[in-house]
Amino acid sequence: MKDKSTKPWGGRFTEATDEFVEQFSASVGFDQRMYRQDILASRAHARMLARIGVLDEQDCDKLLQALDTVTEEIESGSFPWNSALEDVHMNIESRLVELAGEAGKRLHTGRSRNDQVATDVRLYLRAAIDEIDPQLEKLQRAVITLAEQEVDTIMPGFTHLQVAQAITFGHHMLAWFEMIHRDRVRLAQCRENVNISPLGAAALAGSSFALDREFVAQQLQFTGLCENSLDAVSDRDFAIEFCAFAAILFVHLSRIAEELVLWTSPQFNFVELPDRFCTGSSIMPQKKNPDVPELVRGKSARVYANLFALLTLMKSQPLAYNKDNQEDKEPLFDSIDTVNDCIVAFADMLPHLQVNRSRLLAAAQQGYATATDLADYLVRKKIPFRDAHESVGKIVQYAITQSKRLDELSVQELQEFSPHVQKDVFGILSVQGSVGSKNTRGGTSPEQVAEQIKRAHQRLKAFKAG
Ligand code: ARG
Repeated sequence: MKDKSTKPWGGRFTEATDEFVEQFSASVGFDQRMYRQDILASRAHARMLARIGVLDEQDCDKLLQALDTVTEEIESGSFPWNSALEDVHMNIESRLVELAGEAGKRLHTGRSRNDQVATDVRLYLRAAIDEIDPQLEKLQRAVITLAEQEVDTIMPGFTHLQVAQAITFGHHMLAWFEMIHRDRVRLAQCRENVNISPLGAAALAGSSFALDREFVAQQLQFTGLCENSLDAVSDRDFAIEFCAFAAILFVHLSRIAEELVLWTSPQFNFVELPDRFCTGSSIMPQKKNPDVPELVRGKSARVYANLFALLTLMKSQPLAYNKDNQEDKEPLFDSIDTVNDCIVAFADMLPHLQVNRSRLLAAAQQGYATATDLADYLVRKKIPFRDAHESVGKIVQYAITQSKRLDELSVQELQEFSPHVQKDVFGILSVQGSVGSKNTRGGTSPEQVAEQIKRAHQRLKAFKAG
């Protein structure tokens, strides 16, 4: 039988942990990725204990040195990870005792793994957010660059995936920009809620030592403190909020992905992806599959699942800490990793998108995209909009039977349906005329798109300044 004394908490136990239970309850396989945060938090805690006179300076120095050694060991791969020691916290602590003796044993004064793990997860998530946001900005910049290149590139705009009205490609790119912008706003809000310190809550009740919670929070660059110790150790809202941000981000990424999948199909042939972002088929030699967008679309499944996992995990949990909470990490880490991978993939790929301008123009000309412009034209000739709509509907029907576009009909043909039509109609029947006329703020005209691009740049700058 194993020695029960290997466990830092072994004192009140009379037998060793069942081997299965040991493996079953271990989290070190997935929480060791928080080692840096665990060490940072231990440094801050040690300094604070020295400051309030619970730890003498010598012991504090010993501890800080041992923490350096632990960092080196972990980063060089020589750290003796041991799943019998359950998690990252006890693995590091036990090594500290080996390295620093008595001093190592004093570190856990006024601290519990409950506030320790809550702190580590917050610090880890904060660092992840600080990596993700610049990638999102990069993605936005890629989208703006495409918009700049294609300010007046005409394409069909769709509703119900049927050609609705002609728009500019730049305008479409800026719609993507807006989606990602809202994601960044949500991420920034999430960061604020992540960035407060649970340390000092100890197991659940606070501590009988006069812990300087503010000092620890400052050391760790937290902007505030969790106000209630029960809540501090049991709150995982911040992780749920990140997963919710990620889920909404993936609504957007999957929509962008879907459009890329459609647009690269030969039936659309609107854009081309560089070969290095696609794969072929082992049987069909002609294939070039848009794997990257498809996979991003597919990854939304796990990102939504992670949000549901955390919601379900936290639902009905009585206060305060429960071992259930150990299950918070894998979904959270998976969402972090998936978000990272997918925005990096898109940010790398989008600048190399080739836009097939002639094909986009032809597609815009095919679907009677200027029918609404013709109705608006009749309204300007004092026809009520409903009557104009009816006449234009008939004109479209006629044009279909003649296999003609609207701007290929003669004035005489048009006058059959509405005597108010004159020669000047051709200015608005072309897709260029149509697009140019949509000059309301936020609209699709090249002039408005240029304005939107200008404001997008300003907003990016302002967002950074925060
Ligand atoms: N590994 C645990 C977790 O991830 C750390 C906290 C354990 N605390 C306890 N009292 N069992 O949540």
